[in-house]
Amino acid sequence: MEQLAYYLQQNNSKRILDVGTGVGNFIFVLAQTTNEYDEIIGIDTSQRAIEIASNYFLDNHKVKFMKMDGKKIEYPDGYFDVVCLSNSLHHLENPQPIFNEMKRVLKREGLMIIQEMVCEPLTNQQVSHRLVHHFSAEIDRHLGLTHDDTYTKEVIEEKLSQFDSIELIAAWVPEYQNKHEFSDEEVTQLISSIDQMIDRIKDIEKKPYYQDKAELIKQYIKENGFDLATEYMFILKKTV
Ligand SMILES: C[S@@+](CC[C@H](N)C(=O)[O-])C[C@H]1O[C@@H](n2cnc3c(N)ncnc32)[C@H](O)[C@@H]1O
Repeated sequence: MEQLAYYLQQNNSKRILDVGTGVGNFIFVLAQTTNEYDEIIGIDTSQRAIEIASNYFLDNHKVKFMKMDGKKIEYPDGYFDVVCLSNSLHHLENPQPIFNEMKRVLKREGLMIIQEMVCEPLTNQQVSHRLVHHFSAEIDRHLGLTHDDTYTKEVIEEKLSQFDSIELIAAWVPEYQNKHEFSDEEVTQLISSIDQMIDRIKDIEKKPYYQDKAELIKQYIKENGFDLATEYMFILKKTV
Protein backbone atom coordinates (compact mmCIF):
# COMPACT_ATOMS: atom_id res chain seq x y z
CA MET A 1 0.00 0.00 0.00
CA GLU A 2 3.05 2.24 -0.31
CA GLN A 3 1.70 4.06 -3.34
CA LEU A 4 -1.59 4.88 -1.58
CA ALA A 5 0.35 5.98 1.54
CA TYR A 6 2.42 8.29 -0.66
CA TYR A 7 -0.64 10.03 -2.15
CA LEU A 8 -2.40 10.33 1.24
CA GLN A 9 0.69 11.82 2.85
CA GLN A 10 1.38 14.23 -0.01
CA ASN A 11 -2.20 15.48 0.17
CA ASN A 12 -2.08 16.05 3.98
CA SER A 13 -5.17 13.83 4.30
CA LYS A 14 -6.83 14.71 7.61
CA ARG A 15 -10.51 14.34 6.73
CA ILE A 16 -11.53 11.35 4.63
CA LEU A 17 -14.98 10.34 3.34
CA ASP A 18 -15.89 6.87 2.06
CA VAL A 19 -19.14 6.89 0.04
CA GLY A 20 -21.09 3.59 -0.26
CA THR A 21 -18.92 2.26 2.54
CA GLY A 22 -20.91 -0.97 3.05
CA VAL A 23 -19.44 -2.74 6.08
CA GLY A 24 -16.34 -0.52 5.91
CA ASN A 25 -14.01 -2.77 3.89
CA PHE A 26 -12.22 0.16 2.27
CA ILE A 27 -11.87 1.97 5.60
CA PHE A 28 -9.88 -1.04 6.86
CA VAL A 29 -7.50 -0.43 3.94
CA LEU A 30 -7.26 3.32 4.70
CA ALA A 31 -6.75 2.82 8.44
CA GLN A 32 -3.99 0.27 7.76
CA THR A 33 -2.30 2.64 5.34
CA THR A 34 -2.19 5.82 7.43
CA ASN A 35 -2.76 6.95 11.01
CA GLU A 36 -2.22 10.61 10.22
CA TYR A 37 -5.92 11.33 9.71
CA ASP A 38 -8.22 13.23 12.11
CA GLU A 39 -11.42 11.53 10.96
CA ILE A 40 -12.70 8.99 8.48
CA ILE A 41 -16.45 9.10 7.78
CA GLY A 42 -18.18 6.16 6.08
CA ILE A 43 -21.64 6.77 4.60
CA ASP A 44 -24.12 4.33 3.12
CA THR A 45 -27.87 4.24 2.42
CA SER A 46 -28.13 0.84 4.15
CA GLN A 47 -28.80 1.12 7.91
CA ARG A 48 -27.83 -2.55 8.34
CA ALA A 49 -24.41 -2.00 6.69
CA ILE A 50 -23.80 1.06 8.90
CA GLU A 51 -24.57 -0.94 12.05
CA ILE A 52 -22.20 -3.76 11.08
CA ALA A 53 -19.44 -1.33 10.07
CA SER A 54 -19.80 0.66 13.33
CA ASN A 55 -19.32 -2.53 15.34
CA TYR A 56 -16.09 -3.34 13.50
CA PHE A 57 -14.59 0.04 14.45
CA LEU A 58 -15.78 0.43 18.07
CA ASP A 59 -12.17 0.83 19.23
CA ASN A 60 -11.28 3.54 16.72
CA HIS A 61 -12.91 6.83 17.71
CA LYS A 62 -11.57 8.61 14.63
CA VAL A 63 -13.77 6.43 12.37
CA LYS A 64 -17.52 7.16 12.22
CA PHE A 65 -20.37 5.76 10.12
CA MET A 66 -23.61 7.47 9.13
CA LYS A 67 -26.66 6.53 7.11
CA MET A 68 -26.50 9.11 4.33
CA ASP A 69 -27.16 9.21 0.59
CA GLY A 70 -24.13 9.93 -1.61
CA LYS A 71 -26.45 12.12 -3.72
CA LYS A 72 -26.95 14.47 -0.76
CA ILE A 73 -23.83 14.53 1.39
CA GLU A 74 -24.55 16.56 4.51
CA TYR A 75 -21.18 18.28 4.77
CA PRO A 76 -20.06 21.78 3.70
CA ASP A 77 -18.23 22.53 0.43
CA GLY A 78 -14.54 21.62 0.49
CA TYR A 79 -14.74 19.88 3.90
CA PHE A 80 -12.82 16.72 2.98
CA ASP A 81 -9.21 16.23 1.88
CA VAL A 82 -10.04 12.83 0.33
CA VAL A 83 -13.27 11.22 -0.90
CA CYS A 84 -13.43 7.51 -1.79
CA LEU A 85 -15.77 5.18 -3.65
CA SER A 86 -14.87 1.50 -3.51
CA ASN A 87 -16.50 -1.24 -5.57
CA SER A 88 -19.65 0.84 -5.86
CA LEU A 89 -19.35 2.45 -9.31
CA HIS A 90 -21.04 -0.52 -10.98
CA HIS A 91 -23.93 -0.23 -8.47
CA LEU A 92 -24.85 3.32 -9.46
CA GLU A 93 -27.71 3.85 -11.90
CA ASN A 94 -26.46 7.37 -12.59
CA PRO A 95 -23.04 8.20 -11.12
CA GLN A 96 -23.21 11.92 -12.05
CA PRO A 97 -25.16 13.25 -8.99
CA ILE A 98 -22.94 11.27 -6.61
CA PHE A 99 -19.76 12.46 -8.31
CA ASN A 100 -21.05 16.05 -8.20
CA GLU A 101 -21.56 15.73 -4.45
CA MET A 102 -18.21 14.00 -3.91
CA LYS A 103 -16.57 16.83 -5.82
CA ARG A 104 -18.47 19.53 -3.91
CA VAL A 105 -17.36 18.29 -0.46
CA LEU A 106 -13.76 17.81 -1.65
CA LYS A 107 -11.22 20.60 -1.08
CA ARG A 108 -9.47 22.20 -4.08
CA GLU A 109 -6.73 19.84 -5.28
CA GLY A 110 -8.12 17.16 -2.94
CA LEU A 111 -7.98 13.49 -3.91
CA MET A 112 -10.74 11.23 -5.13
CA ILE A 113 -9.93 7.54 -4.73
CA ILE A 114 -11.94 5.07 -6.78
CA GLN A 115 -11.38 1.37 -6.24
CA GLU A 116 -13.13 -1.02 -8.60
CA MET A 117 -12.93 -4.69 -9.51
CA VAL A 118 -12.23 -5.43 -13.19
CA CYS A 119 -13.58 -8.21 -15.43
CA GLU A 120 -10.32 -8.89 -17.29
CA PRO A 121 -7.58 -10.02 -17.56
CA LEU A 122 -8.13 -12.68 -14.87
CA THR A 123 -6.61 -16.05 -14.02
CA ASN A 124 -8.85 -19.14 -14.21
CA GLN A 125 -9.27 -18.98 -10.42
CA GLN A 126 -10.24 -15.30 -10.55
CA VAL A 127 -12.79 -16.06 -13.28
CA SER A 128 -14.64 -17.97 -10.51
CA HIS A 129 -15.07 -14.67 -8.66
CA ARG A 130 -16.27 -12.92 -11.81
CA LEU A 131 -18.81 -15.71 -12.47
CA VAL A 132 -20.21 -15.47 -8.92
CA HIS A 133 -20.26 -11.69 -9.02
CA HIS A 134 -21.98 -11.50 -12.40
CA PHE A 135 -24.49 -14.14 -11.27
CA SER A 136 -25.39 -12.07 -8.19
CA ALA A 137 -25.57 -8.92 -10.38
CA GLU A 138 -27.97 -10.69 -12.78
CA ILE A 139 -30.20 -11.69 -9.85
CA ASP A 140 -30.14 -8.11 -8.52
CA ARG A 141 -31.18 -6.83 -11.96
CA HIS A 142 -33.96 -9.45 -12.12
CA LEU A 143 -35.17 -8.01 -8.78
CA GLY A 144 -35.09 -4.47 -10.19
CA LEU A 145 -31.86 -3.32 -8.50
CA THR A 146 -29.03 -1.48 -10.26
CA HIS A 147 -26.01 -3.79 -10.49
CA ASP A 148 -23.88 -3.85 -13.64
CA ASP A 149 -21.40 -6.59 -14.41
CA THR A 150 -17.84 -5.55 -13.62
CA TYR A 151 -16.11 -3.28 -16.16
CA THR A 152 -12.74 -3.34 -17.91
CA LYS A 153 -10.09 -0.88 -16.70
CA GLU A 154 -10.59 1.10 -19.93
CA VAL A 155 -14.36 1.41 -19.41
CA ILE A 156 -13.79 2.64 -15.83
CA GLU A 157 -11.28 5.22 -17.07
CA GLU A 158 -13.73 6.31 -19.75
CA LYS A 159 -16.49 6.74 -17.14
CA LEU A 160 -14.18 8.72 -14.86
CA SER A 161 -13.07 10.98 -17.72
CA GLN A 162 -16.68 12.16 -18.16
CA PHE A 163 -16.58 14.16 -14.92
CA ASP A 164 -15.17 17.64 -15.30
CA SER A 165 -12.78 19.30 -12.88
CA ILE A 166 -11.27 15.99 -11.81
CA GLU A 167 -8.14 14.63 -13.45
CA LEU A 168 -6.95 11.01 -13.36
CA ILE A 169 -3.38 11.05 -12.04
CA ALA A 170 -2.64 7.38 -11.26
CA ALA A 171 -4.04 3.83 -11.56
CA TRP A 172 -2.55 0.60 -10.26
CA VAL A 173 -3.36 -2.80 -8.77
CA PRO A 174 -2.85 -2.51 -5.00
CA GLU A 175 -0.28 -4.94 -3.63
CA TYR A 176 -2.61 -6.31 -0.92
CA GLN A 177 -4.54 -7.96 -3.74
CA ASN A 178 -4.75 -11.72 -4.00
CA LYS A 179 -2.72 -12.48 -0.88
CA HIS A 180 -5.54 -14.54 0.62
CA GLU A 181 -5.49 -18.24 -0.30
CA PHE A 182 -8.99 -19.70 -0.17
CA SER A 183 -9.20 -22.90 1.91
CA ASP A 184 -11.37 -25.86 0.85
CA GLU A 185 -13.78 -24.91 3.63
CA GLU A 186 -14.10 -21.34 2.37
CA VAL A 187 -14.67 -22.57 -1.18
CA THR A 188 -17.39 -24.94 0.10
CA GLN A 189 -19.05 -22.03 1.94
CA LEU A 190 -18.88 -19.94 -1.18
CA ILE A 191 -20.51 -22.67 -3.25
CA SER A 192 -23.38 -22.89 -0.76
CA SER A 193 -23.77 -19.09 -0.90
CA ILE A 194 -24.61 -19.50 -4.61
CA ASP A 195 -27.65 -21.58 -3.63
CA GLN A 196 -28.68 -18.87 -1.17
CA MET A 197 -28.60 -16.35 -4.02
CA ILE A 198 -31.18 -18.42 -5.92
CA ASP A 199 -33.47 -18.30 -2.85
CA ARG A 200 -33.98 -14.61 -3.65
CA ILE A 201 -35.77 -15.54 -6.92
CA LYS A 202 -39.47 -15.89 -6.13
CA ASP A 203 -40.61 -16.29 -9.77
CA ILE A 204 -41.07 -20.09 -10.08
CA GLU A 205 -40.81 -20.03 -13.89
CA LYS A 206 -37.44 -18.25 -13.79
CA LYS A 207 -35.93 -20.41 -11.06
CA PRO A 208 -34.76 -23.33 -13.29
CA TYR A 209 -32.77 -20.87 -15.47
CA TYR A 210 -30.85 -19.64 -12.42
CA GLN A 211 -30.49 -23.15 -10.97
CA ASP A 212 -28.92 -24.45 -14.20
CA LYS A 213 -26.58 -21.47 -14.36
CA ALA A 214 -25.62 -21.95 -10.69
CA GLU A 215 -24.70 -25.60 -11.33
CA LEU A 216 -22.35 -24.59 -14.17
CA ILE A 217 -20.69 -21.96 -11.93
CA LYS A 218 -20.30 -24.43 -9.04
CA GLN A 219 -18.76 -26.97 -11.42
CA TYR A 220 -16.34 -24.33 -12.73
CA ILE A 221 -15.26 -23.40 -9.19
CA LYS A 222 -14.74 -27.08 -8.23
CA GLU A 223 -12.54 -27.58 -11.28
CA ASN A 224 -10.57 -24.32 -11.14
CA GLY A 225 -10.58 -23.11 -7.53
CA PHE A 226 -11.33 -19.56 -6.42
CA ASP A 227 -9.42 -16.32 -6.12
CA LEU A 228 -10.51 -12.69 -5.80
CA ALA A 229 -10.73 -10.75 -9.07
CA THR A 230 -8.17 -8.01 -9.66
CA GLU A 231 -9.08 -4.58 -8.37
CA TYR A 232 -7.67 -1.28 -9.60
CA MET A 233 -7.16 1.83 -7.55
CA PHE A 234 -7.63 5.11 -9.43
CA ILE A 235 -6.41 8.41 -7.98
CA LEU A 236 -8.02 11.59 -9.28
CA LYS A 237 -7.34 15.18 -8.32
CA LYS A 238 -9.89 18.00 -8.12
CA THR A 239 -8.48 20.64 -10.39
CA VAL A 240 -10.54 23.72 -9.36
C1 LIG B 1 -20.79 -3.41 -3.27
S1 LIG B 1 -21.05 -2.36 -1.92
C2 LIG B 1 -19.40 -1.74 -1.68
C3 LIG B 1 -19.07 -1.67 -0.23
C4 LIG B 1 -17.65 -1.19 0.11
N1 LIG B 1 -17.37 0.13 -0.39
C5 LIG B 1 -16.59 -2.17 -0.34
O1 LIG B 1 -15.66 -1.78 -1.06
O2 LIG B 1 -16.67 -3.35 0.04
C6 LIG B 1 -21.93 -0.96 -2.55
C7 LIG B 1 -22.53 -0.11 -1.43
O3 LIG B 1 -23.02 1.12 -1.99
C8 LIG B 1 -24.16 1.50 -1.23
N2 LIG B 1 -24.88 2.53 -1.98
C9 LIG B 1 -25.56 2.38 -3.15
N3 LIG B 1 -26.08 3.57 -3.54
C10 LIG B 1 -25.70 4.48 -2.59
C11 LIG B 1 -25.94 5.88 -2.42
N4 LIG B 1 -26.67 6.57 -3.30
N5 LIG B 1 -25.40 6.49 -1.35
C12 LIG B 1 -24.67 5.82 -0.45
N6 LIG B 1 -24.42 4.49 -0.54
C13 LIG B 1 -24.95 3.83 -1.60
C14 LIG B 1 -24.89 0.19 -1.03
O4 LIG B 1 -25.83 0.26 0.05
C15 LIG B 1 -23.73 -0.76 -0.75
O5 LIG B 1 -23.47 -0.90 0.63
